[in-house]
Amino acid sequence: MSPAVLLELRHAAKAFGAVRALADGEIELRAGEVHALVGENGAGKSTLVKILAGVHQPDAGALAINGREARLHGPAAARDAGIAVIYQEPALFGDLTVAENMFVGRQPLRGARGGRFRLPDRRIDRAAMHDQAAEIFGRLGVPLDPAVIARGLSIADQQVVEIGKALSLDARVIVMDEPTAALSAAEVDRLFDVVRALKAHGAAVLFISHRLEEVFALCDRVTVMRDGRHVLTGDVGDFTPADLVRAMVGRELAEREPRATGGGPGETVLRVERLTREGAFTDVSFTVAAGEIVALAGLVGAGRSEVARAIFGIDRYDAGAVTVGGAKLKRASPTSAMAAGIGFVPEDRRQQGLVMDMSVQQNVALASLGRLRKAGLIRAASERGMASDWAARLAIACGRLTDPVATLSGGNQQKVVLAKWLGRRPAVLIVDEPTRGIDVGTKAEVHRLLADLAREGVAVLMISSELPEVLGVSDRILVMREGRLVAELARERATEEAVMSAAMGTREVPA
Ligand SMILES: Nc1ncnc2c1ncn2[C@@H]1O[C@H](COP(=O)(O)OP(=O)(O)OP(=O)(O)O)[C@@H](O)[C@H]1O
Ligand SMILES: [Mg+2]
Repeated sequence: MSPAVLLELRHAAKAFGAVRALADGEIELRAGEVHALVGENGAGKSTLVKILAGVHQPDAGALAINGREARLHGPAAARDAGIAVIYQEPALFGDLTVAENMFVGRQPLRGARGGRFRLPDRRIDRAAMHDQAAEIFGRLGVPLDPAVIARGLSIADQQVVEIGKALSLDARVIVMDEPTAALSAAEVDRLFDVVRALKAHGAAVLFISHRLEEVFALCDRVTVMRDGRHVLTGDVGDFTPADLVRAMVGRELAEREPRATGGGPGETVLRVERLTREGAFTDVSFTVAAGEIVALAGLVGAGRSEVARAIFGIDRYDAGAVTVGGAKLKRASPTSAMAAGIGFVPEDRRQQGLVMDMSVQQNVALASLGRLRKAGLIRAASERGMASDWAARLAIACGRLTDPVATLSGGNQQKVVLAKWLGRRPAVLIVDEPTRGIDVGTKAEVHRLLADLAREGVAVLMISSELPEVLGVSDRILVMREGRLVAELARERATEEAVMSAAMGTREVPA
């Protein structure tokens, strides 16, 4: 007997003004399967998800749930139909406990035998609520305390709370839109266990990711989308990664050429001396030379992003100094960092890197205002020219360059932040997780751009949690652990094992 089809969406279409986000979307979800949904940035994955979530109404298409035709008029209808969506960064109520978040608006009440009407003095039955939450976490195999306040939970734990909530609502279709993008490797492993538990209980999980290794490690079937259209669906085992990439980008991707090591690094541009921020990092010293790409590797929480933020002046530091081109930065502030020639692509690009209601081209031009300004006026023509160059180079999918950046897909927003800084050609460029959320086709282009910048003499400091990226792109690798620099590896000496063992402290490598 073939497994039950829980949900089927056919020929779904959705346009926003002139932008056709979805032209012919299609997905079929079966009980007990983990189904991957992959495609380039802007392919229409999140739009399809929002149709299943009842957030968007499709312009055309047919939806069937448990074999019956259905319409999801809003999020409540989707929930009642047994569909739950887990977003990359869940929005929990920070002041409520884990259990309260799971049962918000429908808490079990004490004395429930007293009749069907809610009496004013009836209190929430906390014990019952906690028992139910604990039972669900037990099923998922996650030791999460239902009584703990949600504020301060890691993103990974917040996702588990949302998944628990989905189960408490008897959701049978669970949709996860890039759930692993902001997780550490250990957290990804735990999420995979939770997903496998969901699958064992007969749920269908729709799993979106830009990391193909996750698709092959976790998923049973895969659907590929391109330009808002369904391209293929099949068993994961029937495809190689190259097959999927070809289907996603619609062409063969060139093998990435190894980085041509130029004439060796030039003069030291960035010098960081004994930088310390209490509770975050201690005594961090290193240099980056012109033409060099230095990677800052380590586990999530090792203090890498904190160091980057301090260098750029977003966070203060308690001791130490940052010097650019021989001149010491007097104050820790982004303004003085930028004036000294430092550019910064932050990890949390949506919050820190973009002005959401400004257009794509304004955002791209934002960091380069100085260059584009003439007689006090930003020349609209050069702004447009610059933005369209970058849109082409990074394959930024958007309707018009004058559209607000908020209307772009997640990955395309990230590309805009990259363009903004790459276009400025700073003396020092700090990039934090430069390819997170970026599709496979553009990843290689981002790596090429970083290499080009280095060749042109920019000193690049790159933070990345992806070892292949660290090993493939950088000249030198610094490893941080628990707020300290613990190892430095030259490109020739660096292997995944060497970086990992330094990051985890399994072997002492002199810094
Ligand atoms: N509210 C909106 N208004 C205008 N255009 C939109 C809106 N939402 C999405 N789009 C457009 O629809 C297209 C598909 O976007 P969608 O978010 O579905 O892509 P995605 O496959 O999830 O991409 P990513 O991998 O980057 O998350 C994009 O070109 C995007 O700009
Ligand atoms: Mg998306």
